[in-house]
Amino acid sequence: MTSDKVTIVEVGPRDGLQAHKEPISTEARIGLIERLRKAGVTRMEVGSFVSPKAVPRMADTAEVMAAVGSASQADDMVLVANARGLDQAIAEGARTVAVFTAASDGFAEKNIGCTVDASLERFVPIVTRARENGITVRGYISTITDCPYSGPVEPEAVVRVANALTEMGCGEISLGETLGRATPRRIAAVIEAVAKDVPMSSIAAHFHDTYGMGVANVWEAVRLGVRTVDAAAGGLGGCPFAPGATGNVATEDVIYMLHGQGYETGIDMDALLDAAAYCKDAMGIAPVSRVYHAIRRCI
Ligand code: HMG
Ligand code: MG
Repeated sequence: MTSDKVTIVEVGPRDGLQAHKEPISTEARIGLIERLRKAGVTRMEVGSFVSPKAVPRMADTAEVMAAVGSASQADDMVLVANARGLDQAIAEGARTVAVFTAASDGFAEKNIGCTVDASLERFVPIVTRARENGITVRGYISTITDCPYSGPVEPEAVVRVANALTEMGCGEISLGETLGRATPRRIAAVIEAVAKDVPMSSIAAHFHDTYGMGVANVWEAVRLGVRTVDAAAGGLGGCPFAPGATGNVATEDVIYMLHGQGYETGIDMDALLDAAAYCKDAMGIAPVSRVYHAIRRCI
């Protein structure tokens, strides 16, 4: 029997902010993380160690990690793309890191500068060394249904990458629908295909909300047995390498739906909306979610 508890991985402080055009103060990033913790978020992406030229908003990730005590938070996660990124994560005491690739070469090349196969080869020693250092590793697969450069993606391509990441030691595979375009039928096809090899308990859903399909897709994933869902407070975010794609599915939209369907997340709606509101006050980034506006403006 599957559990009625769904764990939210809050990606706002990384995915939510990484593509923002204007500078964001380190204090504001810290303030957001503190408010998310207060709301009951237990798993969170606090930043990434990547090229500051490629992603300038994440350049102060080391300061952020130190300020929010990530070295003593097993479930604070940082993204790393290469050995240098892992060195930085280890130096800051990270307990969980994520490596990230794609199911399509077009996106991988734009995002991390190499093909999918080359990225998998590059990740083997990174994942091995992370685990030798007692670090838990998540593996991201972007473009699970559609790639902005290579077109539609078949589930088999996702399965191949999921198996490679699992074999090298990633304990969790986050399936990224980067463009926010797919409908539940295609999401189901990918999850069902991956779940033939990877246990459902190791699969996470990471859906962007460009076409407003995010909540429907999360529900489809949960209906199929996925119990780990990535989302960003306020529905913020986007990837600098996915033109036209908007933010992640909003955490408040997801928990409104899940709580209503009888699932527990441990997240307090009011405190979460405070965290989303803080993004507007401290960074000038307004929440875009339906639930935020319904609760905070219209009643
Ligand atoms: P590489 O090929 O190893 O890099 O990786 P390189 O050695 O060719 O270096 C390229 C430049 O990056 C050099 O600078 C390096 O110094 C610098 P330059 O000589 O041009 O001045 N560099 C670094 N600087 C600081 N820390 C580092 C580091 N590594 C290289 N660790 C690399 C190239 C992948 C690092 C680069 O292309 C990069 O940083 N890309 C950004 C990737 C990224 O953060 N993308 C967004 C996250 S993924 C995402 O959002 C999708 C996801 O949400 C799921 C979904 O929605 O689908 C996860
Ligand atoms: Mg993303």
